[in-house]
Amino acid sequence: MSQQFQHDVLVIGSGAAGLSLALTLPSHLRIAVLSKGDLANGSTFWAQGGVAAVLDDTDTVQSHVEDTLNAGGGLCNEDAVRFTVEHSREAIQWLIDQGVPFTRDEHAGNDDGGFEFHLTREGGHSHRRIIHAADATGAAIFKTLLDQARQRPNIELLEQRVAVDLITEKRLGLEGERCLGAYVLNRASGEVDTYGARFTILASGGAAKVYLYTSNPDGACGDGIAMAWRSGCRVANLEFNQFHPTCLYHPLAKSFLITEALRGEGAHLKLPNGERFMQRFDPRAELAPRDIVARAIDHEMKRLGIDCVYLDISHKPEAFIKTHFPTVYERCLAFNIDITKGPIPVVPAAHYTCGGVMVDRHGRTDVPGLYAIGETSFTGLHGANRMASNSLLECFVYARSAAEDILGQLPHIPVPAALPRWDASQVTDSDEDVIIAHNWDELRRFMWDYVGIVRTTKRLQRAQHRVRMLLDEIDEFYSNYKVSRDLIELRNLAQVAELMIRSAMERKESRGLHYTLDYPEMLPEARDTILVPTTYGG
Ligand code: FUM
Repeated sequence: MSQQFQHDVLVIGSGAAGLSLALTLPSHLRIAVLSKGDLANGSTFWAQGGVAAVLDDTDTVQSHVEDTLNAGGGLCNEDAVRFTVEHSREAIQWLIDQGVPFTRDEHAGNDDGGFEFHLTREGGHSHRRIIHAADATGAAIFKTLLDQARQRPNIELLEQRVAVDLITEKRLGLEGERCLGAYVLNRASGEVDTYGARFTILASGGAAKVYLYTSNPDGACGDGIAMAWRSGCRVANLEFNQFHPTCLYHPLAKSFLITEALRGEGAHLKLPNGERFMQRFDPRAELAPRDIVARAIDHEMKRLGIDCVYLDISHKPEAFIKTHFPTVYERCLAFNIDITKGPIPVVPAAHYTCGGVMVDRHGRTDVPGLYAIGETSFTGLHGANRMASNSLLECFVYARSAAEDILGQLPHIPVPAALPRWDASQVTDSDEDVIIAHNWDELRRFMWDYVGIVRTTKRLQRAQHRVRMLLDEIDEFYSNYKVSRDLIELRNLAQVAELMIRSAMERKESRGLHYTLDYPEMLPEARDTILVPTTYGG
């Protein structure tokens, strides 16, 4: 039998954005934080590089803002960039106060403006401004925030809960537009439970799993974006999918990321013959923004018909490599690659969804009571290409801002009345799960082939044709069979893929991460691609 729950705040997603928001809200509020799998399954845990912030005395807000605008290909919202960067120092202080063990600088006071933590560099940054915990920053942040959340009795951390859809007044046929909570599959009971909430937060990450090769963990299925779209929210700039230039190329390594901080600390990209090539594509060479580096690698791989290129840091002292990059060192060694002695085979892979659910400065979406923060959202910070390590910063800044907004509204928002239960009376158990598995594979393969680093109108048209057929099949399946995690994720991925393709087809130029052979030039005016749902349900 399905269950009913009531909370003040329902947070869908247990990564940096969701946990920060939950911890920032006062302890008299009842908060539920949902995770689709185990709590640590999200992207935050796997983030290696760090958090970009203006921290030492020789750096400035203006410099961080300008670097972000440059990387973003003229499409960033300058107000959003400035707002985020101006709050970067306090966001980092909050993390330090929570106990995040950032790597300390053994030479503090000499060349880092006196700041006590080590700051590294990544592509697009003109300054050392990435605070990090060796090369496992996400794990350090996640573990610290989770420990804090576990000590707060008002925060319920619920694993194996997959949000199916949002409950809005519109969905229930009531007056008004407000979000009242969500229907959530409990994977243990197999039932879809009803979670009523005064405020609902989408903090469920991006959609890089839409591509065959990705640096992301399995859950990155665009759930928040798809649910928001179905509930009437606008989405923006979904054609900008960031490919990380350097994921480990090895048949047994499931897209393991080789952090950009290696290049920040001097690693070189090389062809199989040992020749460096990045300087042919950009004067910043290995430290050019990601869109440029990933495209250059893709170009060289196609030109030479090679399976990968190489990233080499072996010219640096062994002790330095082992101290700064212990995770990468260990992981590569497990595949018999000693990064202190030789180069690492690397390829680009889908990494970050720059577009998302349109929000204002407080993370408010178009649906009252519904917020989106982190990779799910579109704040305008990233423009046409996210600069490395700005995304974790965005999580902390907008989580705080959303929490402040919720607190201000709280006195005026009652707990929703009992909500109707999920209706499972018309569906049966699926006897053909092979269809779900097949559609997953098909979707991810044609997105990789047709909507990847280099696009053409013809490829996009093919992808659009196929995704529409898939959506019809998935809808039929969804109407007739009980929901499962795989089906919910496939439905969301296909929805977001359709929005990505539609956005890419609307952009008649090449800009940042969107590069098409049919429109190779950049138009003089930079415009966001905003999609508006015309019917309820998208
Ligand atoms: O390369 C990295 O460590 C990734 C950083 C990021 O995506 O911001």
